[in-house]
Amino acid sequence: MSISTIHTVHGMRAWQQTIGASRVGFVATMGALHTGHAALIERSVSECDLTVVSVYVNPTQFDQADDLKIYPRTLDTDVALADSLGADLVFAPTWEEMYPDEFRYQVDEAEFSRELCGAHREGHFTGVLTVVMKLLNIVRPERAYFGEKDYQQFKLISDMVRAFHMDAEMVPCATVRESDGLALSSRNLNLSCDARETAPIIHQLIASDRSDQEVIEALTEAGFNVDYVVSKYGRRFVAARIGDDEREVRLIDNVPRPMTDLQGESA
Ligand code: PAJ
Repeated sequence: MSISTIHTVHGMRAWQQTIGASRVGFVATMGALHTGHAALIERSVSECDLTVVSVYVNPTQFDQADDLKIYPRTLDTDVALADSLGADLVFAPTWEEMYPDEFRYQVDEAEFSRELCGAHREGHFTGVLTVVMKLLNIVRPERAYFGEKDYQQFKLISDMVRAFHMDAEMVPCATVRESDGLALSSRNLNLSCDARETAPIIHQLIASDRSDQEVIEALTEAGFNVDYVVSKYGRRFVAARIGDDEREVRLIDNVPRPMTDLQGESA
């Protein structure tokens, strides 16, 4: 294995002293790497001299303690996959390394972070923005790659980088899907067989000509608890939960949706 794994900020500083003027590409993840993450890593490897992948399950962005507890943790296989894709370094820090301030300092956005997922997951985007700001300061990449599957997250991070005059370029990457259209997600592992069979309907419906209200009704009929279906900013966004209380999985997705399609909808 040619890849190295570093667990400390001090270790990252020492590594940076050895790389000269190399262009560093960065992919931030919470691990349990799948083909969606792999696409980001491959793109960084093809466009940059060196690629750093972070693997950190960030507690401050989880609004449900149970969700954090069952989040899959598979560092060894993640490192092996990152290595096979040509990444150079995995940064896998601890809470103590990432939050020496115990989360006293937070990056808060006052508008878009309150909508869509932010309206249903209190504090989620403050946790995301805070950890991404820390990661960008530690890794100091020239480019950072984010998936459009989490489009709201991508937009909030790019706007944060602009707001705080940070140097890295944020690169959006298209959503990777299963052949039946389901967006790849670490959470798909928690779907029951039945729920896995139903789940692709999410993408079919949001990519269809049906109105937002009709999509909500069709998802509800298929057994989902719908958090939202909203057409806004040239995209249609959805978040819906499926499964029983013991094993409920929240899925999100979005697709481009030209504004000309939106007459009569919540634009
Ligand atoms: P995570 O869910 O592990 O996702 C890491 C990156 O992979 C994100 O940029 C996400 O948008 C991208 N990704 C996930 N599934 C994808 C898919 N099917 N197609 C394309 N890209 C996909 O997002 C996070 O972690 C965290 O919030 C993080 C940014 C790491 C901060 O903790």
